[in-house]
Amino acid sequence: MRYLTIALTKGRLAGQTMALLEKVGIFCEEMKDPASRKLIFTNEELGLRFFLAKGPDVPTYVEYGAADIGIVGNDILMEEGRKVYEVLDLGFGRCRMCVCGPLAAKEKLLHQEQIRVATKYPNIAKDYFYNEKNQTVEIIKLNGSIELAPIVGLSEVIVDIVETGSTLKENGLAVLEEICPLSARVAVNPVSMRMENARISLLLEKIGAALQESAAGR
Ligand code: PRP
Repeated sequence: MRYLTIALTKGRLAGQTMALLEKVGIFCEEMKDPASRKLIFTNEELGLRFFLAKGPDVPTYVEYGAADIGIVGNDILMEEGRKVYEVLDLGFGRCRMCVCGPLAAKEKLLHQEQIRVATKYPNIAKDYFYNEKNQTVEIIKLNGSIELAPIVGLSEVIVDIVETGSTLKENGLAVLEEICPLSARVAVNPVSMRMENARISLLLEKIGAALQESAAGR
């Protein structure tokens, strides 16, 4: 049997995904070893193969068919714009994509001023400001610790992920506008969806049922 390959987002999302998969009888004990530097794991019995990748690379593996399925946040799916099917919302990894900054910057958003926006998500920021708000802005791509930008005067605002809000609070910033809710999604390669339809559909059905069960038990 051909392996069904699943790309997981390295880090917390991978742990939460494996906990969910265990509920539907899919185990991968090898992946739990914190000392291991291994990136790829197989479950011979079920014909499954898992690998860990950086979030932004997950949709790339799925688009090219190197993975049949990917588990990744919809922030990354939106930003990368890869040709994959987004088929299921797993409901965990919940957070929000927001425009943030010092409260004083709120005025500048209301009055359509030409401002600078720092972000790790230039495509999401472009789409929001240009297409939804019709506001011309300058977008500056950064790679992390985005909250620094308005503090040191690189930009007026940022577009970033807010989970608990503590990073903003501890740095004297606030949510100024909300762009969209985020959570972990299942993305599938379009060819795999046709060629491996029976296996993928069964897997998605089982995951859907486990999600409903845990929602009911909440
Ligand atoms: C993310 C995000 C915020 C922070 C939000 O950063 O970019 O900085 O988490 O979480 P909070 O609302 O719970 O404080 P991450 O830790 O992924 O690192 P990064 O700054 O390198 O992007």
